[in-house]
Amino acid sequence: MFNFCTCVNFKQEPSDDEWQMDSSAKKKDLKKGLNEACNHVPLALASPSERRDYGEDRVINLDVGDPIMYETFWKKMGKKATLVIPGWRSMSYYSKGQSLCWFLEPDLCEQILRLHRVVGNAVTEGRYIVVGTGSSQLILASLYALSSPDSSEPTNVVSAAPYYSSYPSMCDYLKTSLFKWGGNASKYDSDGAYIEIVTSPCNPDGFLREPVVNRIGGKVLHDLAYYWPHYTPITAPADNDISLFTASKCTGHAGSRIGWALVKDAEVAMKMVKFIELNTIGVSKDSQLRTAMMLNVVSDTCEQIGSSLVIRSESFYGFGHRLMTERWCRLRQAVKNAGMFTLPDFPSAYCTFLNQRTQTRPAFAWLKCEKNDEDCAALLRRHKIIGRSGVSFGCSEQFVRVSMMDRDDNFDLFIQRISKIASEI
Ligand SMILES: Cc1ncc(COP(=O)(O)O)c(C=O)c1O
Repeated sequence: MFNFCTCVNFKQEPSDDEWQMDSSAKKKDLKKGLNEACNHVPLALASPSERRDYGEDRVINLDVGDPIMYETFWKKMGKKATLVIPGWRSMSYYSKGQSLCWFLEPDLCEQILRLHRVVGNAVTEGRYIVVGTGSSQLILASLYALSSPDSSEPTNVVSAAPYYSSYPSMCDYLKTSLFKWGGNASKYDSDGAYIEIVTSPCNPDGFLREPVVNRIGGKVLHDLAYYWPHYTPITAPADNDISLFTASKCTGHAGSRIGWALVKDAEVAMKMVKFIELNTIGVSKDSQLRTAMMLNVVSDTCEQIGSSLVIRSESFYGFGHRLMTERWCRLRQAVKNAGMFTLPDFPSAYCTFLNQRTQTRPAFAWLKCEKNDEDCAALLRRHKIIGRSGVSFGCSEQFVRVSMMDRDDNFDLFIQRISKIASEI
């Protein structure tokens, strides 16, 4: 049967000609300063020629956090971000480095260290790097390494609601006796060993988070997928036992499936490596090399100009920061027009990377329907917008999560529909 969601979500790539038009139109927008973007909040950014398939019936699927808005930046990078891998290269299971993680490519290791140094978002001294097939694999590797194999009961894995909707199923789908999903960390009151996953900034609501359970016998896993300057002010280098990062949200290359963990304890890191060895005998070398190249480009574009100019420049974070700022301004205006939703209010904070106070601009909008008992996801669905219900994140159906990372034309349509919702009810 024809599946419209799949069709909408994975629509065809634009042609090169379309792309040329796209980039020249966007160049103008990118030159607008931050304030200008907030003062003039257009309902549509894409020019008529860019608006492919803009029919009333088109369903926009913003359920998944697919980070394809970054295509614009990477297309502009052209050859600088194009990698050719000769047939003889990276054939072995092994990597040439001396790392505890025997399948970590030295180029990737070097670029991970460099990017954290440039951005200042994580302490890397005295840390082991473990590479994974996305941070999804590293979440499971961490739970395996942190749980107690000799315990008679599975270790409870908890996270404060609203929590990332995949954690419960990740914990329980294999029905392992090592760990199990223990629910909302804010309501956790059992004794004994537990693992708390702290997602900071949080997916779905965008707030910076700290552990909430804080009991003896507990271990903490920090999922820092969104701790990058295009989403949130960088307030201090993360200094945790385990911090997880992913190329999916850092550069937008979700398809490469590369994540990395910074791990303090050698034994924990070795267990994580063992898990990945048993699971996939390492991690794609091709993907590691490609990710190394993308991280290199990101660091280059920032280092060449100095951090105080990053926002206004054509650097990766300049691009991401401006686009997210503009999208959030437009969304807030549309939500105001609709008059029936609210969005979280974020305090601004000093960003040590951008050298100025900046706002939080999360990768997801956490919308709340102000009418009691309204199923917000169902309401959006009636207006052909697909989001993920708050129920999946341990909250009520009054909430819905919507991705802010889709292409411009889908985002434009989303804004238009949200603005009009009140008048159509
Ligand atoms: C908080 C969080 N952690 C982990 C992941 C998994 O990312 P990946 O497996 O693509 O690295 C995601 C993806 O959306 C996420 O939002």
